[in-house]
Parts: sequence; C-alpha cells; structure tokens
Amino acid sequence: MISMISSVGKNRELGKNNTLIWHFKDDMKFFKETTMGHIVVMGYNTYKSLPGNLPGRHIIVVSYDPIENVECVNGIEPIIEKYKDSDEEIFICGGASIYKQFLPYASKLYLTEISATDDEADTFFPNFNKKEWKRTLIKNNNQNNIDFDIFLYERKRV
Ligand SMILES: NC(=O)c1ccc[n+]([C@@H]2O[C@H](COP(=O)([O-])OP(=O)(O)OC[C@H]3O[C@@H](n4cnc5c(N)ncnc54)[C@H](OP(=O)(O)O)[C@@H]3O)[C@@H](O)[C@H]2O)c1
Repeated sequence: MISMISSVGKNRELGKNNTLIWHFKDDMKFFKETTMGHIVVMGYNTYKSLPGNLPGRHIIVVSYDPIENVECVNGIEPIIEKYKDSDEEIFICGGASIYKQFLPYASKLYLTEISATDDEADTFFPNFNKKEWKRTLIKNNNQNNIDFDIFLYERKRV
C-alpha cells in the first residue's frame, strides 16, 4: 500500500530554498512514529535536504543518478509495481515532484494542515479533489500560536 505523509501550509506550501518552512516538534514526532520501521521514499532534493539520517527506516531515493550506499530508483514504476497492491505500507515523503507523481497511486495521505502561509514558498503539495477522500482528524496541535492539525485522508472506493 502506498501512503503519503506531508505537512502543508494553507496554500499547500511545502518548502522554500530546499528546506522545510515550519518545524513543529509534535509534527516531527508524528512523522517519526508513523514511518518507524517502514520504507520511506523521497526525491533527490528532499534526500539532500535531510539534516541527518532516519534511524529505523529504510530510505529509497528517486533519482536519475545513483548515490553511493543508498538504494535508488530511476523512475517511480518499480515502486508502484511492487507496493501498490501490497499489504506492506510504504511512505512517500516528498518533495513536490515526488508527491505529484505518486498521488494517483496513493491509498492514504497523512497530512498535517498548518494554519499559516508563506509567500516565499517555492514548492507545493499537488492539488487534489477532497471529495475523493474520506478525511479523519488524527490530532489537533498548536505551537507558537500556530495550529497544525493532522488528518488522515483515505481514498474512497469507486
Ligand atoms: N512539507 C513537507 O512535508 C515536505 C516533505 C518533503 C520535502 N519538502 C520540501 O520539498 C522541497 C523539495 O521538493 P522538490 O520537488 O524540489 O524535490 P524532490 O521531489 O525531493 O526531488 C526532485 C528530484 O528527484 C529526482 N526525480 C524526481 N522524479 C524522478 C523520476 N521520475 N525519476 C528519477 N528521478 C526523479 C530528480 O533528481 P535528479 O535529477 O537530481 O536525479 C529531481 O530533481 C524542499 O523544499 C523540501 O524541504 C517538504
């Protein structure tokens, strides 16, 4: 099963200058707990932006060029084929280009919706039709007077 996990501003802002815009402790904790023990898939830019490694998770990087000592795939097809109908849940962790390519194949979105905007954002989560998804609140959060609420979107069966 392909799931995506992401944190977005009111205008679906994801990042700027290849870094995250907001850093909330409880959101990082949710990311860690949710992805622990799973495969996490990310694009080359996001991989380069990581401040450290992700212990307890196996990283696959989508990249046109190989990276030493890191599992890489050139194109998303091998991952779709292997995991789309599998019972194993894997997590697509961004960034923008990777979310966009995987969205049609994702069954679940773990989305932290941040009540803030940033005019300088340069990467955005893809627009998606919320009517096609069942939305369930996982947790309300607040840090520094900014609400960030975590939702699970599950794709409705047609
Ligand atoms: N808010 C969040 O939850 C969140 C999560 C993750 C990332 N981000 C932010 O998102 C931004 C990065 O997003 P991005 O769209 O610029 O980069 P990205 O999606 O992380 O990586 C894009 C790169 O991945 C490789 N790639 C993409 N599709 C490919 C394919 N089909 N086959 C082979 N390689 C492929 C290419 O790298 P090469 O051409 O170099 O091989 C491409 O330049 C950063 O600001 C980051 O902080 C935010």
